Amino acid sequence: MKIIAYGIRDDEKPYLDEWVKDNSVEVKAVAELLTEDNIDLAKGYDGVVAYQQKPYTDGIFKKMDEFGIHAFSLRNVGVDNVPVESVKKYNIKVSNVPAYSPSAIAELSVTALMALLRRLPRFENKMAKGDFRWAPDIAQELNELTVGVVGTGRIGRAAMDIFKGFGAKVIGYDVFRNPELEKEGIYVDSLDDIYKQADVITLHVPALKDNYHMLNDDAFGKMKDGVYILNYARGTLIDTDALIRALDNGKVAGAGLDTYENEVGIFDVDHKGEKINDDAFNNLYARDNVLITPHAAFYTTKAVKNMVQISLNNNKSFIENGKADNEVSFD
Ligand code: COI
Repeated sequence: MKIIAYGIRDDEKPYLDEWVKDNSVEVKAVAELLTEDNIDLAKGYDGVVAYQQKPYTDGIFKKMDEFGIHAFSLRNVGVDNVPVESVKKYNIKVSNVPAYSPSAIAELSVTALMALLRRLPRFENKMAKGDFRWAPDIAQELNELTVGVVGTGRIGRAAMDIFKGFGAKVIGYDVFRNPELEKEGIYVDSLDDIYKQADVITLHVPALKDNYHMLNDDAFGKMKDGVYILNYARGTLIDTDALIRALDNGKVAGAGLDTYENEVGIFDVDHKGEKINDDAFNNLYARDNVLITPHAAFYTTKAVKNMVQISLNNNKSFIENGKADNEVSFD
């Protein structure tokens, strides 16, 4: 059995080598992301492992089919960049890694909230200029706030546990309710209830057609004044221009963002010495009540190890048995 893995970074290599040793399977590591230009490298292999944020194109799967490869394993969780029609047409089995580390994402989102609540970026800026006074940067305590968690899957639940540990009141909304949380009575009936009641709104849902720009002018208008917004899920969930308006008029007191709707080409790229050509992004980035990280919430040693090794397990299992634990159903 031979597997080819695209977009392999240096930090992934030790985990890949460990897996190869434990499984006695040949794995070719390619540094470049998977494109129609380099899919030919996969000829002669039995399965493809990949990770990237750019869309995978039809031509990639057409070639895989021609090469007799029908096992495609993502190292990440999101499948929004996989063309459903193409994988169906060419009969490609797709797997993801749904739980490489829910706490990795949850921990960064809470970290950003704490930094915003305690005004850390403001103190840092002031102190760098020699101003060591407290006022006007008085903080709010998380234990006094209501946190609305939108999406109560693994990441949402990990976030809830941390928020509860800080003493916050936690409410949740999801179309698929978790039975344990249901017993705890944390669910509200609608997103509007979250908007009305929450001091902090944190998004933990996948990007779907139905939730494109779910946080838009209308949604912000229904929220409490001074709400905090956390998006460690997908950029398309927020209408960025509407968020800017809500920050301008004080509806939103602060935002922690690890995703941005036009992030491809901005995040995980070295921009030293160049200007980022995106006004909305630059507007947000310049604010000391908006904390942006470059889609890095996943980037922990635990998560990266799991992403590499679980995706390889999935791919091996597809090749050996035609099925895998984390097969993605597009129905
Ligand atoms: C995902 O797992 O889908 C993510 O969003 C993290 C990715 C940047 C590795």
